Amino acid sequence: MRDTIRFIRRGGIVEVGDFDPMTMLLDHLRLDEGAKGTKEGCGEGDCGACTVAIGRCRNGEVVYEPVNACIQLLGMVDGTEVVAIEDLADGDTLHPIQQAMVDRHGSQCGFCTPGFVMSLFALFHASEGPVTRGEINDWIAGNLCRCTGYRPIVDAGLEASTAPRADKFHRASADTAGILQFLADDRDLFIGDEERFFAAPASVDALAALYQRHPTAVIVAGATDVGLWITKQLRDIPKIIHIGRVAGMNRIEDTGREILIGATATYATAEPYMRAIDPDLGELFRRIGSKQVRASGTVGGNVANGSPIGDTPPALIALGATMELRRGDRARVIPLEDFFIDYGKQNRASGEFVTGLLVPRLREDQVFRCYKVTKRFDQDISAVMGAFRFTLDADGLVREARIAYGGMAGTPKRAKGAEAALNGSAIRDSAAWSNAFAALREDYAPLDDHRASAAYRAEIAHALLGKALLEAAGTSTARTRLVGRREEIVHAAE
Ligand SMILES: Cc1cc2nc3c(=O)[nH]c(=O)nc-3n(C[C@H](O)[C@H](O)[C@H](O)COP(=O)(O)OP(=O)(O)OC[C@H]3O[C@@H](n4cnc5c(N)ncnc54)[C@H](O)[C@@H]3O)c2cc1C
Ligand code: FES
Ligand code: FES
Repeated sequence: MRDTIRFIRRGGIVEVGDFDPMTMLLDHLRLDEGAKGTKEGCGEGDCGACTVAIGRCRNGEVVYEPVNACIQLLGMVDGTEVVAIEDLADGDTLHPIQQAMVDRHGSQCGFCTPGFVMSLFALFHASEGPVTRGEINDWIAGNLCRCTGYRPIVDAGLEASTAPRADKFHRASADTAGILQFLADDRDLFIGDEERFFAAPASVDALAALYQRHPTAVIVAGATDVGLWITKQLRDIPKIIHIGRVAGMNRIEDTGREILIGATATYATAEPYMRAIDPDLGELFRRIGSKQVRASGTVGGNVANGSPIGDTPPALIALGATMELRRGDRARVIPLEDFFIDYGKQNRASGEFVTGLLVPRLREDQVFRCYKVTKRFDQDISAVMGAFRFTLDADGLVREARIAYGGMAGTPKRAKGAEAALNGSAIRDSAAWSNAFAALREDYAPLDDHRASAAYRAEIAHALLGKALLEAAGTSTARTRLVGRREEIVHAAE
């Protein structure tokens, strides 16, 4: 058992023990270390002012990902390298990203600048040569600037991306990888006492035992929800069990027929696997939060939180996914839709946790579509999320329709009436469509809140079903979509 966390700062190993379980990385940097370059804006993962880069060893290589330090618990950085804005310059020489920001006038008041630089730093390390404007937009979608405007910042990113990838982090990467491998031990981590602790078990058995002993503890995966309970709801969470160190729980395996997503696999690592199932699913994942949120947030957390507006549950339910749970020595598997009982109520016993999800790939006779409707295109949570899988026979008859929505009830939920209206009918049968639209109105009592009114949600759900049916019947997405046209996405990927 270990009672300190260890991580790399500026080439050396830092060891920290005796901290409150709710301590955020941002507070550690600014208050304990005095590294005040990293800023606090919103404190909820939305503005990116607090962005730092976290280095991890993957397949022997050091990979840097941007995270929001304001909602990243200090204990979560155990076994990583933490890179903040003060660390980038090489002596008196600015990092190529910093120099390009100066040269392209990418900063005015400067409050957002460290966050932008850190996001672009992560992109600098994730790419091997010049990048596109679109890629930069994706990498900085989680960073807000109120005064400079984005054009000079994007220009700086474009310019810096032409520089050789030879900064001091590249030069140190073999040493860094060695230290990271050394830090990745298999000892359980427990800091605190039985009443107040931060724990990070190293195995699923240790997690099961600890959670049974402390069923009131809060499980934390990526903390993109739990972090906000602390910073915005000011909740006291005395017992935290972080599951990010559990060996094997972040695995993703493609068996050819299905994809197994371990509970701690992040959106970022799952995205290519989901894109391989269907381009719409890949786009859905790409539009969840920001790079920072996708680097920390997990598919397991998105499902386990039971939210009615989480993006992945409707899509995974439409695909027929199952969920694996474990409590003590007992494991069970349930259809994902059976996990959601009611608003705030899930099919999960005290001391039970999610270990993974099994997502079937599409068969040749299946058509899948999913659509996320938000007020803002990037970095926004859905008002309505609709997902559709139609299994068609050779004559175009619907053998099985699976339809699920988020934002339409207190839980992610299937549209069983609309499905029944379509089953057995021709995919182009307008009478069946009318019956399905009518049934859809009976299937749900939509949420009515600040994101969207119930009436708006009902209209959108109707429109999305119509769009999915049109597309499944063969209409080109050039006619049904303004963005995310499947033909263009497939063409770009070839
Ligand atoms: C800025 C921002 C933007 C966001 N944008 C989106 C968006 O576009 N779409 C969207 O769907 N969500 C969005 N979210 C919400 C968030 O990213 C997701 O809900 C995320 O998937 C939660 O995963 P996590 O690993 O961070 O969970 P955590 O915060 O660690 O945990 C969430 C909940 O799940 C429980 N939990 C986690 N893992 C397990 C497990 N294995 N077993 C049992 N319980 C578990 C925790 O106890 C907690 O109750 C956004 C969040 C932020 C901060
Ligand atoms: S302070 Fe706004 S994302 Fe962290
Ligand atoms: S330079 Fe002022 S907020 Fe971006």
